[in-house]
Amino acid sequence: MSTLELVGLTKHFSGAKQSAETVAVNDINLSVGDGEFLCILGPSGCGKSTTLRMIGGFEEPTSGDVLIDGASVVDMPPNRRPTAMVFQKYTLWPHMRVYDNIAFGLRLRHQDKAQIDKEVRDSLALVGLTGYDRRYPAQLSGGEQQRVALARALVLQPKMLLLDEPFSNLDALLRVRLREELYAIQRRIKITAIFVTHDQEEALSLADRIAVMNAGQLEQLDKPSQIYAYPRTLFVADFIGVMNIFPVQRQGDLLHIGQYALKAPEGLNGESGLSVAVRPEDFTFSATDGAWQGVIDQTIDLGHYRKVLVIVPGLFGDETAALAHRVKVYMPKSVQARAGDRIALTPSRYLVYSDTAVTRTSSATRTSSATPNAQPIEVRNQAVSGEDDR
Ligand SMILES: Nc1ncnc2c1ncn2[C@@H]1O[C@H](COP(=O)(O)OP(=O)(O)OP(=O)(O)O)[C@@H](O)[C@H]1O
Ligand SMILES: [Mg+2]
Repeated sequence: MSTLELVGLTKHFSGAKQSAETVAVNDINLSVGDGEFLCILGPSGCGKSTTLRMIGGFEEPTSGDVLIDGASVVDMPPNRRPTAMVFQKYTLWPHMRVYDNIAFGLRLRHQDKAQIDKEVRDSLALVGLTGYDRRYPAQLSGGEQQRVALARALVLQPKMLLLDEPFSNLDALLRVRLREELYAIQRRIKITAIFVTHDQEEALSLADRIAVMNAGQLEQLDKPSQIYAYPRTLFVADFIGVMNIFPVQRQGDLLHIGQYALKAPEGLNGESGLSVAVRPEDFTFSATDGAWQGVIDQTIDLGHYRKVLVIVPGLFGDETAALAHRVKVYMPKSVQARAGDRIALTPSRYLVYSDTAVTRTSSATRTSSATPNAQPIEVRNQAVSGEDDR
């Protein structure tokens, strides 16, 4: 049983000069339920590890609080917190056998020998490594070493498991296998888990909820399906999944995209600084019958569906921009589509955002708060006006 609450959690790192202070984590507020699997997702340098390290006690917050089961833990060292952490790099003690690596923490707690023996064997069984207890870390593959690291964390029976990109040094296939195993273990023992990753597929497949971070701030906290269908900021729209993003100008009830236009949703404020976002699967298409007249530039078969890149002259200001911003469309493989074919596209669902620039920063040095995004407005199956005669 354990819940986590982050209250105004903030971390500043001071640089060499006073002015070069880094705001690594900026006023994070969130709650995680008992037994929940939360993924913290965001680009490199956005503050994911710093957040996790503050939860585990490896970094002291500049301000704010970390509550576990309602009680503040910020004054406790890592070993007194009810958390256990698995790090990205293999952190097993090379001179100790697997058995001793796992037993180490239990011996510090002065448990009796028979009890330690049982718990070490149980935890090895849990991660699928029964019979590996006599080996040294150097005699294990990378994936096996990370499973031992997981066993070593779980054997302490923490209330909360903290994982910082634990599989990112492994090859793609092994990563998928280990994350499926981790998911099964987490469900079985019903432990609350906080998992840091910059890999959205990993987050989408593991998490009950995802916390998307950017430049030290929490951009969105939601279920994976909700984040995909309804990204709250333009950053999230661009970062999660594939998205077509068009800067638009509004005139009356029309949103102008180059020489084309879409219906502006009701309740939209502002004329400029707006963007429209369309998922590749949210276009209807035909040979000639549609709003945006384009030509297929490239087709890419992706297993059970096809990605088609379309050049739509006049959609962007100039032709070089058109090449740079080919419209990405997903189609079933049953639809014939070849490079050079004419195609007409109509967005059937789009989101309108009140900011144009996607601020994806790798260093969290900016001190101002993030763009104050209004909620995006969703438009479905609206009649789209044809070519605009401006
Ligand atoms: N000890 C430190 N001293 C100074 N700056 C630091 C320190 N640790 C982290 N930072 C800075 O804080 C910011 C956030 O770092 P953090 O390690 O939390 O990012 P991250 O999201 O985990 O990135 P990655 O995906 O690359 O691991 C970065 O700009 C980083 O340079
Ligand atoms: Mg990190």
